[in-house]
Amino acid sequence: MCGIVGYVGKKEAVSKLVKGLKTLEYRGYDSAGIALLQSEKIVVVKDKGRIANLEKSLDYNNLKGTIGIAHTRWATHGVPSKENAHPHMDQNKHFAVVHNGIIENYLELKNQLIKEGFSFQSETDTEVIPVLMEYYYQKYQDVMQAFQCTLKDLRGSYAILVISPLLPNTILVAKKGSPLVIGKGNDGIYIASDIPAIIEYTKDFYFLEDGESAIISDSLTFYNHDFQKIDKNSKTIEWEIDAIDKNGFDDYMLKEIHEQPEALKNTLNGIISFNQPVQFVGFALNKSYLENLKHIYIVACGTAMHAGLVGKLAIEKLCRIPVTVEVASEFRYRDPIIDQSTLCIFISQSGETADTIAALKLAHEKGAKTIAISNVFESSITREADHTLYTHAGPEIAVASTKAYISQVGLIVAFAIYMSEVLEISVSLSNELKKGLIDLPNLMGIVISHEDQYKKIAKKLVNETDLFYIGRGNDYHIAMEGSLKLKEISYIHSEAYPAGELKHGPIALIDKGTFVFGIITDPNIAEKTLSNLEEVKSRGANIILITNQNLKVEHVINIPNINPIISPILAIIPLQFIAYFIAKEKGLDVDKPRNLAKSVTVE
Ligand code: G6P
Repeated sequence: MCGIVGYVGKKEAVSKLVKGLKTLEYRGYDSAGIALLQSEKIVVVKDKGRIANLEKSLDYNNLKGTIGIAHTRWATHGVPSKENAHPHMDQNKHFAVVHNGIIENYLELKNQLIKEGFSFQSETDTEVIPVLMEYYYQKYQDVMQAFQCTLKDLRGSYAILVISPLLPNTILVAKKGSPLVIGKGNDGIYIASDIPAIIEYTKDFYFLEDGESAIISDSLTFYNHDFQKIDKNSKTIEWEIDAIDKNGFDDYMLKEIHEQPEALKNTLNGIISFNQPVQFVGFALNKSYLENLKHIYIVACGTAMHAGLVGKLAIEKLCRIPVTVEVASEFRYRDPIIDQSTLCIFISQSGETADTIAALKLAHEKGAKTIAISNVFESSITREADHTLYTHAGPEIAVASTKAYISQVGLIVAFAIYMSEVLEISVSLSNELKKGLIDLPNLMGIVISHEDQYKKIAKKLVNETDLFYIGRGNDYHIAMEGSLKLKEISYIHSEAYPAGELKHGPIALIDKGTFVFGIITDPNIAEKTLSNLEEVKSRGANIILITNQNLKVEHVINIPNINPIISPILAIIPLQFIAYFIAKEKGLDVDKPRNLAKSVTVE
């Protein structure tokens, strides 16, 4: 939550900062601001609303300066307003700060500083940082000492950038529990919450560990937790700039839906090939470890959790090991039963979701082996886990996840096949699924090519206020993800229910004309779900069926047939499109839905 960007270099900073913020807008978009060092003074421009709004008030001719910091906010402490927007400064305008994270002891610090005679302009936790720096600066007359003393006082999570006229040509940087990358470009050094914001300028990135800090001027100096100088090597990230363009699509979400076949192919490249065992470079589990495994947890949030549900089905079917899927925010607070015979898998597109990271730390403490599945190289979760398996979906920018979901499902099924091969069980099913995963990108292309059909259906649903999604087994998991997509971007209420459970309550809500999506991709339970659809139909509902079976219903979306363990990868696509087209038809901002952020770095 919240995106930060900074630049120290030879070129004018403002346009670079604004461009970086636009890429980071998925992290929050209720207010934004920038601060520049200009003739040894700090100049701040900030406002409520989106970055486009901030841009309107920027006078590029007068905002000259080659050092600056910027922020896009998702409010935690204090309403979205100009006063609460970052950057924040102390009253003597010695320090301007942008911050992503939460300072947990801010009230305590604020009260102490007020007693010392300092005043505050905002309701934010962040404002204590520049004020505390000023307090220590007045005490020691040394900026670096002020910075270090301030960091020692902060509890909670942060990625912080500070500029000060007392330290010209410099940005001070610190990280603990919030993401931050530093990239060295030809014309300067860039800092951002994530790689896409600055990939245009460099492919060489430095990653700070929690507790580390840096002084950035025309060179880079890194410090450890004890403020001792340390060396760091950069890592090269091979993402292309194209990946963060809309490439002619109206929205990132539409582009990302279309990119799904490629995302799956890239994710499984080198892992799956027919007639070869599944392999993960640099990662292996041995047979006796798997034989002694009593339980697997898959822990995640949102869409990533829905991918986990598909993973559960695959692992249980192929490996006969019990799997529990849990929402990270629940898992971390309920004292789960974990020991060395438990494997814990954490799925997170961003790798920065606070609850998922906390759940991972808990599993570690209790002695379980931990595996992260993430889309972001060197993200926090990948550094905490024993092993990381990467999805290679490329940067996903729309808040509603699509290509990351598909890639997570593909990867976790590949992992299930891998375990079954090590265990030497379920050979024919494993082979069928491997072939299926190889065929999927082409089949996804076929489903995507029927975009117009989905658009027509979406037009019929625009004025609905309640929609239902039902299915059994994996079809229920697809229903959950389809319903979530709809809620997230169209703001239409929807329920996803196991088809057989509908008559234990929710059927009371079915009225004449209510639309119900049925999903049937498993021939073994097709008739059962069909009966449930008949039940709602006889109560006046309109059915829209997504199926790979030959079934006669008024509105049918046909998709290619594939093993039900991997059918979510095909069946979710029409539901993504329908949610997208409904939101478009309603004139909503598809990529940045209200109240949501892509990366939820607070619990
Ligand atoms: C937010 C996003 C969702 C995402 C979830 C988990 O709620 O809006 O799209 O699925 O976080 O994010 P993660 O990065 O951990 O996969």
